[in-house]
Amino acid sequence: MESQAVASKLSRAAIFLVATLNDGEANLNSVRAMCGDLAGFVRAVGFRDLDGGLSCIMGFGSDAWGRLFGDPQPKELHPFREIRGRHHAMATPGDLLFHIRARSMDLCFELAMQIMTRLGGAVTIVDETHGFKFFDQRDMIGFVDGTENPVGPESVNAVLIGDEDPAFAGGSYVIVQKYLHDLKRWNDLPIERQEAIIGRKKLSDIELEDAVKPSCAHNALTSITDQDGKELKILRDNMPFGEIGKGAFGTYFIGYTRSPSRIERMLQNMFVGDPPGNYDRLLDFSRATTGSLFFVPPATFLGSAGP
Ligand code: HEM
Repeated sequence: MESQAVASKLSRAAIFLVATLNDGEANLNSVRAMCGDLAGFVRAVGFRDLDGGLSCIMGFGSDAWGRLFGDPQPKELHPFREIRGRHHAMATPGDLLFHIRARSMDLCFELAMQIMTRLGGAVTIVDETHGFKFFDQRDMIGFVDGTENPVGPESVNAVLIGDEDPAFAGGSYVIVQKYLHDLKRWNDLPIERQEAIIGRKKLSDIELEDAVKPSCAHNALTSITDQDGKELKILRDNMPFGEIGKGAFGTYFIGYTRSPSRIERMLQNMFVGDPPGNYDRLLDFSRATTGSLFFVPPATFLGSAGP
């Protein structure tokens, strides 16, 4: 089955819309109709700027999936599991996710408006984040973000469901968390301390050597392997966002994966620690303010989901 544009190139601009479904069969029908219309909307808006690289991914939370489509359910779809460790990974409401990406914000904004206008009162937006690329693919804490993402066939293998759930082969899972940074305290840290927390050099982005990289470095705790020692990858498209007047500076974490258990293990390592207590010090400076898990059905499923 043809998948949505999950493994598409990282973009310069993005809008992340998380919405909840409003009650009533008519509202559910509006959302089902949107599923069928989405590809046409992306074509129509995207055609206005041929080099714009516009794409949109639509994801569904587990409760929404049941209400909209019933059985069968994707095997690993469940609500985001909150974690209370040294820090708190909270679960927040989210029935639908629209992840809109393009080279420029006008395309993202126009598509988001068209989608929401068509959906009318069927949904309520609970979070809207406009992300932008920062110099050299850096995030708000000043580090290059996305370097170790899988590319080509490796990324397809990391994100797309295969034989493990044949009814939903070509689908994917996505976890989002909106982090706010205490930038003042972070920027007061010596660069060497920041580098030890992330596990890479800040200016050059070169990975720290094993001999000097702490076991609690962010990239050590998020590098996980299967029982044969093979690395279990995910695909991230984190984006900086901010509101200077409010002093709100953040990173929108978005991770695609063929199994949510991969990201859940990484979160466990970050928030509780591996071993417990050996947690991710990035979290002493970054607070997760949302947390949701969605299933991204294949494009062919979406296309045929209309009423
Ligand atoms: C690596 C930043 C949250 C998973 C990195 C890197 C940076 C970074 C700078 C190193 C460069 C790279 O390979 O991309 C951040 C920030 C976050 C955040 C600012 C939020 C405050 C998360 C979360 C997860 C995650 C929540 C997963 C649960 C990963 C993975 C890597 C990585 C898998 C690559 C590790 C490797 O193979 O070397 N992150 N990250 N990150 N991060 Fe994060």
